[in-house]
Amino acid sequence: MDFTNLLLAWFRDNQRELPWKEYNDPYPVWVSEIILQQTRVQQGEMYFNRFLEAFPTIGHLAEAPEDQVLKTWQGLGYYSRARNMHKTAKKVMREYGGSFPKDVSLLEKLDGIGPYTAAAVGSFAFGLTVAALDGNGYRILARYFGIDLPIDSSEAKKTISGLARSLLPREDSASFNQALMDFGSLVCTPHPVCGICPMARTCRAYIEGLTDVIPVKKEKSPARIRYFHYLDIEDGNATFIRQRKGNDIWKGLYEFPLIETSSPAGYPELIKTEAFNKMLNIKSCILINIYRSKPHKLSHQTIYPVFYRIRSGNNGLLLQMEYLKIDRQDLPRHAVSRLTEKYMDFFHNFAGL
Ligand code: ADE
Repeated sequence: MDFTNLLLAWFRDNQRELPWKEYNDPYPVWVSEIILQQTRVQQGEMYFNRFLEAFPTIGHLAEAPEDQVLKTWQGLGYYSRARNMHKTAKKVMREYGGSFPKDVSLLEKLDGIGPYTAAAVGSFAFGLTVAALDGNGYRILARYFGIDLPIDSSEAKKTISGLARSLLPREDSASFNQALMDFGSLVCTPHPVCGICPMARTCRAYIEGLTDVIPVKKEKSPARIRYFHYLDIEDGNATFIRQRKGNDIWKGLYEFPLIETSSPAGYPELIKTEAFNKMLNIKSCILINIYRSKPHKLSHQTIYPVFYRIRSGNNGLLLQMEYLKIDRQDLPRHAVSRLTEKYMDFFHNFAGL
């Protein structure tokens, strides 16, 4: 049997039951694909159900305030994806009367929809004959056909997507695409389980003992290192927060007053900074607690975060002008990063402050 038949035969007997497979409506298919770009299937299921409960149709999503969309997304990370979903929902309502276009190149023009997502929606929801290759697909095909180019290179991508196009069954591309995903999650995993693989006997990487070498990875550039010092200010029952803006991580999410330094700094150095002095008068500050979180790793940067809880009765102009003074009880209503959420849980559960 050839690759496609072996794969589809495996799929018939072993495919996973996943909630989004129940749908051929493009809206839930699209939601699941965006969620699954950044989380494992198990956690993805929870977010998928939560998202559809909050926004049952694309119209509900388009109408929702951005804060609610971000709040529903909270914990998944990569918040620009949630913002792009919101933009796309509005555009589909406005320009396509609430129905996604049945055309891969039009889908790709929507915010947050790249070639992979457009192909996945096109094949799963509309039955279009297109290959939707995610990391699983690239890994499987690179191994099976012994392609030892760096897997992120455009050359590898071109070669492998060309191969996928030639292997795609005309009548059921959705099964082929879904089979690659399931097979990549259960058998041809990063550390593959070749002992149970029905394709091992014809797999180049297996035959040549290269399953640990292919897919070939490029050297990664080192992560950018940032030092974040958050000031959780206790002003009676109130604290201060603001929404992040600009072209940086966590745009649109709320956070405590932040001082970023380019090298490690402790409290004695922090209180000497201009930013600190614009926000607080050190003479009327009492340091209540220091919470040093473990390094927070994002895809291209590592953040070393510290949260200082400071009691203060004399707030500077910068705090008053740029930050929102809110009742501490209202903090959970705001969408925050996973890092800030962990800090808030810590206080809620352990410190009781
Ligand atoms: N990852 C991305 N899309 C997926 C899908 N439809 N099923 C399983 N895993 C996926």
